Amino acid sequence: MTVRSRKPYIAGNWKMNLDRSRSLDLVKTVKGRIGDGNDREVAFFVPSIYLADVSAVAQGSPLGVGGQNVWFEDDGAFTGELAPRMLREVGADRVLVGHSERRHIFRETDEWMGRKVRAALDNDLLPIYCIGETISERQGNRTDRVLKKQLDAGFAAVKSDDAHRITVAYEPVWAIGTGETATFEQVDQAHATIRKWLANKLGEEAENIRILYGGSVKPDNARQLMALDSVDGLLVGGASLQAETFLPIIEYDA
Ligand code: 13P
Repeated sequence: MTVRSRKPYIAGNWKMNLDRSRSLDLVKTVKGRIGDGNDREVAFFVPSIYLADVSAVAQGSPLGVGGQNVWFEDDGAFTGELAPRMLREVGADRVLVGHSERRHIFRETDEWMGRKVRAALDNDLLPIYCIGETISERQGNRTDRVLKKQLDAGFAAVKSDDAHRITVAYEPVWAIGTGETATFEQVDQAHATIRKWLANKLGEEAENIRILYGGSVKPDNARQLMALDSVDGLLVGGASLQAETFLPIIEYDA
């Protein structure tokens, strides 16, 4: 077992699931189990409408609470969007940027990614920048190229001294919600590509950036994924919706 230089980060992305009362129950249960948070970081990315209530329940614990998306302007005519300062105001301390569902269903462009990451940092929100290839990109041997292009976009305005506040999540699109996890070799390879790109871009400071894996993470594969040196944490969708499945993932090393 290697000694980790980066604190493990286990994050749950609820997407458009749960309701107010089940959200709060889940947060209460998890809050009661994560201790002082010294050995791992745990966070939920919740529907924005529940952020204020969820943050109130999480208060006094190390549990992080974040939004699932953000726009990059401070205010203006952007119907339906939320400014970073608005997320902060209701208690979020972090945010997802570039989740594959935003990119593919809602057609978010690469060009926005750098501005979103920058806006999050400038407003004291810790971004998790999500990247990943589709199945046709993988089958066409374009995985590396796609990841680098997404990194170029998201890190366009990031500097070395921002590095410790950013997390990257590698989520192969074909592994999200499908029950099909990437093989350990595929995860290792993609994470190595990302790590190398980060080092080239940001130098030594890039060592502080955690790279999470996401895509059909379950209690029965969390331990093995976390055993990979290249994996600093997990971004969990479906299995983060219930304490019975999320707690064993948080406690992957129990
Ligand atoms: P699943 O864990 O449901 O595959 O979702 C992964 C994901 O998209 C997390 O952001």
